[in-house]
Amino acid sequence: MSWTLIVWLASALLCLGLLTQSKWDPWLSERVARSESQPWWWTLIGYPTAVVRVRLTWGRVCRVLDLDVPRRAPRALLDRDTMITGTVLKGLPPRLGFPRITSRGLRVTVRLHPGQTPAAFIACADAFAHAWRVYQVRVTSPRRGVVELIAIARDPLTGDRSWPMPPAPRLLTATLGRTDEDAVWTVDLRKIPHWLITGATQSGKSTLLASWLTELGSQPVILVGIDLKGGMELGLYERRLSALATNRADAIRLLTSVLSEVMDRMGVCRLAGVRSIWDLHDDIRPDPVVIVVDEVAELLLVASLNGRKDATECATLLLRIAQLGAALGVHLIISAQRFGSDLGPGATAIRAQVGGRVCHRVNDEQTAVMSLGDLAPDAVAVAQTITEDEKGVAVSAVDGHWRRVRSRYVTPSALRTHAELTDYPLRDAFLTPPREGGVSHE
Ligand SMILES: Nc1ncnc2c1ncn2[C@@H]1O[C@H](COP(=O)(O)OP(=O)(O)OP(=O)(O)O)[C@@H](O)[C@H]1O
Ligand SMILES: [Mg+2]
Repeated sequence: MSWTLIVWLASALLCLGLLTQSKWDPWLSERVARSESQPWWWTLIGYPTAVVRVRLTWGRVCRVLDLDVPRRAPRALLDRDTMITGTVLKGLPPRLGFPRITSRGLRVTVRLHPGQTPAAFIACADAFAHAWRVYQVRVTSPRRGVVELIAIARDPLTGDRSWPMPPAPRLLTATLGRTDEDAVWTVDLRKIPHWLITGATQSGKSTLLASWLTELGSQPVILVGIDLKGGMELGLYERRLSALATNRADAIRLLTSVLSEVMDRMGVCRLAGVRSIWDLHDDIRPDPVVIVVDEVAELLLVASLNGRKDATECATLLLRIAQLGAALGVHLIISAQRFGSDLGPGATAIRAQVGGRVCHRVNDEQTAVMSLGDLAPDAVAVAQTITEDEKGVAVSAVDGHWRRVRSRYVTPSALRTHAELTDYPLRDAFLTPPREGGVSHE
């Protein structure tokens, strides 16, 4: 019965496909393209078609990918002294279970032949995705002798841009968007204290910062901003920021007072005999500080000799804060179009202290290498595949692991409204001038 239904649906799809291929009906093609992203389309049409495709192509795909095993050659005794042996043309593919539907694709189990390992199937994941015309196939091995192929029909990072986000599970955690496994993309600054966001112009860096600020803005966190593009981006959030620097002199003052705060916190921890502010008692633990820098090149790059001293000072302050701040609840989130030695000698030292990376679309391989190469070399090629249309799509890398992600789209007006409504202004935190003589940051 179910086979009849599948065949019926497959024929319906074929007719629809033929209709939409014809140039005389662009209206219908557009409707079909729009429907393809709807869940009902997958249930009624996409899934049955994929099942037929998976079952029909399985033997051929395994043969091409060398995943089948040779059948025993037939032999026959001609007479008492002669035996003839045939040559088997088709191998025996591993046994395929029935593909089960999931919300965005299907999953199917495969029983391995003796001698086969999941590694061979993992290496062929891309080929399965092409053969079945799905966005991605992942291979897992739930138990010995069995692999599970999980197909995802469409890239979950395309389409709707404003997903509902669950609340952040704990302080300094932010739910920033979705991953390409269709999971929530969550970042915890207590696990990875500093982050670098790179990408070409208009790739989505400031939007990601906006999403991050919106999340942290509703937590008891002191937020300070440095935006040397005249405060155009972070200015939208000014009501929630404890301080906003829009020129280099202000940025130096601000970073100096943050460093002074770092030194004070060090003293508190030393007195209490603990190694981080998170070991302090709740009553005396200071609020965490997050410094957001939109376009760090404006801070570190100088056009004339005059500005070089200030730029070097900024780099030194950022480096000191990155080195000392992690355990003291002082965090950096830096965005840049590129982040390499061309930003001055301090840039590579700062990058070495920044354990979290998010790389959006890049214009050249070198930028992807600068952003991801030292943490996750495999991710460099993935970052280069992000196209101009994929705004907000990025590769996030931590400790050698990477994943494709897309930030939630936060409009400027939503950001401004959120900043006005927030319960944690903490505005006075950095309004006091740095101590007499400043803080030594040599
Ligand atoms: N996650 C997203 N989803 C959908 N659209 C997005 C997303 N992120 C960014 N965009 C779109 O891309 C545009 C540019 O984004 P954004 O200003 O964040 O880029 P940028 O990298 O900061 O650019 P620049 O380097 O010029 O400052 C936005 O106006 C928005 O329309
Ligand atoms: Mg920007």
